[in-house]
Amino acid sequence: MTLLTVSGLHAGYGRIEVVHGIDLAVDEGSVVALLGTNGAGKTTTMRAIAGQIPARGSILLDGTEIAGRSAAERVRLGIAHIPQGRGTFSDFSVEENLRLGAYTVGSRRRVAEDMDHWFTVFPILRERRRQSAGSLSGGEQQMLAIARALMSRPRLLLCDEPSLGLAPTIVRDVFKVLADLNASRGLAILVVEQNADLSLAVARHAYVMTTGTITMSGPSDTLRQDFSVRHAYLGV
Ligand SMILES: Nc1ncnc2c1ncn2[C@@H]1O[C@H](COP(=O)(O)OP(=O)(O)O)[C@@H](O)[C@H]1O
Ligand SMILES: [Mg+2]
Repeated sequence: MTLLTVSGLHAGYGRIEVVHGIDLAVDEGSVVALLGTNGAGKTTTMRAIAGQIPARGSILLDGTEIAGRSAAERVRLGIAHIPQGRGTFSDFSVEENLRLGAYTVGSRRRVAEDMDHWFTVFPILRERRRQSAGSLSGGEQQMLAIARALMSRPRLLLCDEPSLGLAPTIVRDVFKVLADLNASRGLAILVVEQNADLSLAVARHAYVMTTGTITMSGPSDTLRQDFSVRHAYLGV
C-alpha cells in the first residue's frame, strides 16, 4: 500500500520555482531515500510535503489529498518533519522541545506517556531533560530531533540530512535508530541524505534529484550498482 503519493509537485520561493513538477511515492512501512547534490531542491521538496512552503500539485496521504492543508493539519494526519539543521530550539530544555513536538496533541496524559516512552528509548535524553537542547552534543541533538518528531505519533517521518555535521560513528548510530524505528514500528521514512552509501543501505527505494527534477529512481540495490549514481554520490 502506498502511504504518500506526490505528483506534479512544484515549489519554490516567491517567483522562483526550484522544484519542477516531481513525482514520488513512499509505501507504508518503507524507507525511501531522496538523493541529490547541493541545491537540487531536496529540502524544498521536504518542506513542500510538510506544508511549510506553498506548493502546487497533489500530495496524497493514504489516499487523502492534503495539498491544501496547513502544516499543523498534516502533522495531525501523520506527517512529522525533521528539518535540515534539526529544528530543535537550543535555548529550550530537552523536555520543552519534546512538548513542542506534541503541539498538535490535545491529551496531556498522552504527551506524558510518550515522553516517558522516548526517555526510555533514549536514556541520555532523560538524563538531560532539564538541560537546554543547545548544550547537547550533535548526536544527542539529532536523537532529540527524532524523539521530538515522534511525539506527534507520525506514520511518515520526513528526515532531512540527519547526518549533517556529525562524526561518522554517530551518523551510523542515527541511521540505526531510524532503521530500528522502521523495523519495530513500521514507521515510514523519507530521508534526504548526502551519504548515499548509508541511505541506500537503509532505504528500499531511492530517488535522485537534479536541479528540481527527479532524474533517476529505483530499488536501492539497482541504484547502488548504477555507475552514474556511484560516481556522483558515492565518490567511487
Ligand atoms: N529560503 C529560500 N529563498 C530563496 N531561495 C532558496 C531558499 N531556500 C533554498 N533556496 C534555493 O532553492 C534551491 C534548492 O535548495 P534546497 O531545496 O535547499 O536544495 P537541497 O536541499 O537539495 O540542497 C537552491 O538554489 C537554493 O539556493
Ligand atoms: Mg537540503
